[in-house]
Amino acid sequence: MSLWAKHKIFERNSIVLTIGILGVVAIGGIVEIAPLFYLKSTIERVEGVRPYTPLELAGRNIYVREGCYNCHSQMIRTLRDEVERYGHYSLAAESMYDHPFQWGSKRTGPDLARVGGKYSDEWHVAHLVNPRAIVPQSIMPGYPFLVDAVLDPERIAGHISANRAVGVPYSAAQIANAARDMRAQIDPDGPNAAGFRERYPTAVSRSFGGATANASNRPITEMDALVAYLQVLGTMVDFKAYDARANLR
Ligand code: HEC
Repeated sequence: MSLWAKHKIFERNSIVLTIGILGVVAIGGIVEIAPLFYLKSTIERVEGVRPYTPLELAGRNIYVREGCYNCHSQMIRTLRDEVERYGHYSLAAESMYDHPFQWGSKRTGPDLARVGGKYSDEWHVAHLVNPRAIVPQSIMPGYPFLVDAVLDPERIAGHISANRAVGVPYSAAQIANAARDMRAQIDPDGPNAAGFRERYPTAVSRSFGGATANASNRPITEMDALVAYLQVLGTMVDFKAYDARANLR
């Protein structure tokens, strides 16, 4: 069969042509994508990034459940206007323990990748209960029910195990103590504070969502968890040290 006759098979038969195109395009795709799965440098490790505490992880689950990602991305691109507005551009390593990650460009509201520490806990509680109380023209829905929604600390160990199953390096002690650590994070003077500090040395503990109540025996609410999560976003990496080191490379 001449080359032309072989080519005719493709030109005359749309299914064969489609399969041929897919085959050729797939080669390009595999060459680009396959190395990312085994190259160590795909995600450059960065000092400071740690797995979420039980309370933060519970808050993250609520964030995903409520669909906050429909209006908020967590990915600052390298464009100048974004860096000036939101801070240092996002590093892949900052999302390495996020399952699922919250990247995107859907910004009905501002990017939240570095919202941690930008506002007080009280600001977040008031804003989540009724955004218009803080920003009169806001179109963000209110989530007042989070204040009364009680979290069951016993359930978080399962979520942590699931994260470990997909590669987040939680230790056996972190799983065994998940419920205690959740309480300890809102109760810095409580009986489990020392253990919590040992397991999550860089985590902050305070009464996130329930400003005044005695944190040893009040219920842990979804508001505590969500505010704890928002307050840790973008705070794990010390960018002064990171940029200094990057300049030396
Ligand atoms: C319908 C879209 C929409 C949804 C859904 C939404 N937001 Fe917002 N969000 C906004 C808009 C618009 C703003 C800016 C105005 C304001 O501050 O209220 C905002 C602002 C914020 C801010 C302040 C950011 C800053 O840097 O000033 C935070 C924090 C926030 N949202 C958290 C959340 C969380 C958590 C959820 C889910 C529970 C959520 N949002 C769901 C639209 C949304």
